[in-house]
Amino acid sequence: MGFHVAVIGTGNVGSATAYSIVKECLAEELSLVDIKPGLARAIAEELKHANASIKCDVKINWYEKDEELSGADLIIISAGYPRRPGERISRRGLARKNAEIIKFIAEVVPPNNPGAKYIVVTNPVDAMATLFKKISKCDFVISTGTHLETLRFRSKLSEVLRVRSRDVVGYVGGEHGEAAVILWSTVKIRGLNLSEYLRSMERKDFNKYEIENYVKKISEFIIDASGATRYGPAEAFTDIVKAIVLNLNVILSIATPMRFNELKEEVFVSIPTVVGRSLGLRLLDMLSEDEVRGIKEAAKAVYTTYLRSIEGLNID
Ligand code: MLT
Repeated sequence: MGFHVAVIGTGNVGSATAYSIVKECLAEELSLVDIKPGLARAIAEELKHANASIKCDVKINWYEKDEELSGADLIIISAGYPRRPGERISRRGLARKNAEIIKFIAEVVPPNNPGAKYIVVTNPVDAMATLFKKISKCDFVISTGTHLETLRFRSKLSEVLRVRSRDVVGYVGGEHGEAAVILWSTVKIRGLNLSEYLRSMERKDFNKYEIENYVKKISEFIIDASGATRYGPAEAFTDIVKAIVLNLNVILSIATPMRFNELKEEVFVSIPTVVGRSLGLRLLDMLSEDEVRGIKEAAKAVYTTYLRSIEGLNID
C-alpha cells in the first residue's frame, strides 16, 4: 500500500515540492491544500499534465480548506505568509504571522488524519515545528531544519574544491537560518577529512569564512533576484519524504525535538539524524565540542523566536 502524501500550502516551495514528489513517484495519492481560491486546483491540474509524461500511478486531489484533508499518511506543511515582491522579511520576521497559520493547522488537521507524520517547512521552520508539536501533540513531527543548508554547503564545497558533489560529505546543524552551525568535523572529500584532502591537493587558498557566508546568505540573493527559493528546498524536502516513504534510514540533518537544561521546553534543532519510517540515532556524539556548543546556542535562538511567535496567541 503506497503513501497518501499531502502538501498544505502550494505556493513557490509547496508546488515545487509536490512536483518533485510526482517526478519521483513517491506517492500513490497526493493531496494539495491551499486557502487561496483556485491555487490548489491549478497546481493539481498542472501536475496531472506533467504526470501524463511521468506516468506515475498517483491520484491527485485538491482542497481549499485544511479541514477537508483526510486519511493522509505524510503531511508537508508549507503554508505561510507569502512575501510580496521586493518585501524583505527574514525567516524570523515571519514568526508571528506564520504562528497563527500553524496554530490553526495544528488544531484542525490531525483529527482527520490519525497517525499521520508531519514535515514542517513553514518559516521560521524550527520555531514553527516547536509550535506545531506543542499544539497537535502528534508523535512524528520533524522540521526540515538545516538539510537545505547542507545541500548548499556541499554544492559550494564541490564548486570551490572542483570535485563532483557526490564526492562531498558534510553537514550543517543548528537553526535553519542565522544560527546555522557549519559542522566542519563531518566533512569528507573523496573519503578524506578536509585538512587531509587540502594537504593532498596542496590547496592553501581554502577560505572557510567564504563558504560559511555563502551557506547562510545565498537564499537572500535568490529571493531578491527571483522572488523566492524553490528548487533547492523542493529537492531537500523530497529527500526527507523519500527517506520516510522508502524507509531508507539515511543520515539527514533535520530538526527534531530536543531538551536542553537551559531551556524550559523542548525545541527543534538540527543534528545529523538517521531518517526512515521512524527516526533513529542523532549523531551528536560525532561532533566537536565547539559544534555542540553552537547547536545549544542555536536551540536558544530557536526558543527565543518561538516565544516571540506565540505572544498574544493564548498558548501556555
Ligand atoms: C531558504 O533557505 O531558502 C529560506 O528559508 C527561504 C525563505 O526565507 O523563504
